[in-house]
Amino acid sequence: MKSVCVIGLGYVGLPLALLSLEKGYTVYGLENSPVKVEKLAKEHPNISLNSPDALLSDVIIIAVPTPVDEKKLPDLTPVRVACEQVAEKLTGKGQLIILESTVNPFVSRKYVLPILEKKGFKEGKDFFLVHCPERIDPGNRTWNVSNIPRVIGALSPQGLELSTEFYKSILSAGILPLSSIEAAEMTKIYENSLRAVNIAFANEMAIVMQNMKLDAKEIIQGVKTKPFGLDLCFPSCGVGGHCIPVDPFYLIDESLKRGFDPSFLRTAMRVNGYMPAYTVSLLMHALNETGKSVNGARVGVLGVSYKRNVDDVRESPALDIIKRVKSLGAELKVYDPFIPDYTNATAEEVLACDAVLLLTDHSEFLDYDYSKVPVVIDGKNALDKKSMSGVYKGIGR
Ligand SMILES: NC(=O)c1ccc[n+]([C@@H]2O[C@H](COP(=O)([O-])OP(=O)(O)OC[C@H]3O[C@@H](n4cnc5c(N)ncnc54)[C@H](O)[C@@H]3O)[C@@H](O)[C@H]2O)c1
Repeated sequence: MKSVCVIGLGYVGLPLALLSLEKGYTVYGLENSPVKVEKLAKEHPNISLNSPDALLSDVIIIAVPTPVDEKKLPDLTPVRVACEQVAEKLTGKGQLIILESTVNPFVSRKYVLPILEKKGFKEGKDFFLVHCPERIDPGNRTWNVSNIPRVIGALSPQGLELSTEFYKSILSAGILPLSSIEAAEMTKIYENSLRAVNIAFANEMAIVMQNMKLDAKEIIQGVKTKPFGLDLCFPSCGVGGHCIPVDPFYLIDESLKRGFDPSFLRTAMRVNGYMPAYTVSLLMHALNETGKSVNGARVGVLGVSYKRNVDDVRESPALDIIKRVKSLGAELKVYDPFIPDYTNATAEEVLACDAVLLLTDHSEFLDYDYSKVPVVIDGKNALDKKSMSGVYKGIGR
């Protein structure tokens, strides 16, 4: 791979083109805007602009905008136009086509791929399509195009290999190859949706705090001093303990009294409160896959406390799940080494059941052999999915 063509020399495309140039590639740029072209020609004469040979490059990176229309629906027109240009000139000699623009899961496979294949060339043989979402933060002096880690998803193993090799040649950062192109698409959308949710929460809380004559900035600076527990969260069968499922209701109550409904926080509590029922629905579906119903099945429960290696059952989602599974007519075998009051079976008896619900990730549970259990519902996403021989369902996996 010697030449790189970047389509769209904006906030994302230009730094990438310059980095590729710095790393020794011959760099072509395709840019629509005449104003930008004029400026780029003066400032970056080493980028070959709008050359007819651009799309014959070994690597083609698409970095065009992905806006929403006036109805807030995705407008993939720039992606379509760029892909049509690429398709028109494909050489069939194994070019690597990288979509860096942010797109939804399935856009690469269902929208981009058919355009690229319309002249008869086949992905995985004649060219390779990968998605490597750009995460650049323009203006950030610490994190830039070369040191921000990347995730890559591809449609073929060769595509994944080639693109990993390419990014290794230009980045100083880590690269995480993912299992599918959709996984890469989703990673980027997850990141930005999470940020939108965090910002919305800060905004809703600002209104709550203003109504209480409290200073949002001071409070958030206070919150920031907590050295743990503010990081990225993973999904589970529910939240428990005396704090997270309880404290927000205090705030909801006070805010409602002051005339403001913190609907976002109420939604969060509703979603978290729904997870035990969702976990039971996973059990139903998994047992169904083995030809059984919950009614009459022997269901083993590992863990009753709300948290790993503690003996606290307050607000534990396991209590709700146990109640629901019992009411569906299952025979329950429960084991929690920290909670003798709820334990009615040994670990071996639990593992001999038709289905096992792992509801707490106590250390000793992680060492058990689940390979002979017909159904495992992993409420903490703590087990190795690959080591299962029966039906395995985690929360979101
Ligand atoms: N800006 C950011 O901070 C950022 C960060 C990460 C990811 N992204 C994503 O990267 C993508 C690009 O964003 P951006 O901010 O760089 O957009 P941008 O508008 O700054 O740049 C895109 C450029 O593409 C050009 N263009 C569009 N279609 C073209 C075509 N067919 N041929 C040649 N040029 C074409 C436009 O003229 C424009 O200059 C988007 O999907 C965006 O969501 C942006």
